[in-house]
Amino acid sequence: MLIKRAGDIPSSEITPKDLYLNRRKFLAGAVIAGAAAATGFGLRELASPTTIVQAGNKIDGIKKSTFSTTETITPYKDVTNYNNYYEFSTEKDEPASLAKNFRTRPWKVKIEGLVDKKQELDVDTIIKMATPEERIYRHRCVEGWSIVVPWVGFSLSELIKRVNPQSKAKFVEFTTLNDPSQMPGVRRPVLNWPYVEGLRMDEAMHPLTLLCFGMYGEELPNQNGAPLRIVVPWKYGFKSAKAIVRIRFVEKQPINSWNESAPNEYGFYSNVNPTVDHPRWSQAKERRLGEFLKRPTLMFNGYGDQVASLYSGMDLRKNF
Ligand code: MTE
Repeated sequence: MLIKRAGDIPSSEITPKDLYLNRRKFLAGAVIAGAAAATGFGLRELASPTTIVQAGNKIDGIKKSTFSTTETITPYKDVTNYNNYYEFSTEKDEPASLAKNFRTRPWKVKIEGLVDKKQELDVDTIIKMATPEERIYRHRCVEGWSIVVPWVGFSLSELIKRVNPQSKAKFVEFTTLNDPSQMPGVRRPVLNWPYVEGLRMDEAMHPLTLLCFGMYGEELPNQNGAPLRIVVPWKYGFKSAKAIVRIRFVEKQPINSWNESAPNEYGFYSNVNPTVDHPRWSQAKERRLGEFLKRPTLMFNGYGDQVASLYSGMDLRKNF
């Protein structure tokens, strides 16, 4: 995503993910890799990173969801060691270690704006609002890689309906933590911190939109957005804000961080759309982490039956 000096092609397009994942370790292993090539033993295994993440606390009482895909789940080690989390680092293999000691308790979330019940909620109060569900979703990053993750949470609508938005509230804005003492990335002006994202009210209320606090049956690892994030499976990954501290109901379309930083590259809607290229690369295909060959990207990331009607009559080239 980063307006990076490396040229116009995202790194995920250039090298298979495992190599890109940890180039330094890979280079260190180059001698062994040479031997591997000679013996025919897979390079992937050799280049695989060490898993840094400790298993989190288990979440009890998780229900299965009918919204889940039956596609193969991406290994935990890939999902937890290849992250976009710019508050920690612009390098995908660094949030795992840099966020290791990130404090996720106590954690408050402000509910503000055009709602009857403005309040500050403890994250554990939010988590207890509804039964946790496992939702196995495809998650497609704008940079061309994708994952399949058993997220844990419940529909964001469960929270929204409890705070009584007013009729003037047309959008929901999510603001995430900006703490230079814990997040080394925010000391650099890569984005205009804090990270802000937004959804139209009907998108936020859609049952697929997940308020997420876990994955793989456990609490979210810090690098994946603990203690609270959203997951919007039909949109590019950057819409799924991590470490949310404020949810504000507003009348006007919020200015989301990536749109503010590069308006010609990242729109407000950011629905996964293989027919609309990013100005610097094609969006037609994606590489699933852990796989070598690319697969075609699906319109709305495969969730068209559920969400296409939200955009009927809209020009999705203009509203990208
Ligand atoms: N949320 C915050 N606060 N900061 C970020 O940098 N990156 C986004 C999104 N949410 C980001 C964020 C991007 S670009 C992607 S692809 C997803 O998080 C990655 O989520 P994952 O690391 O759980 O796969």
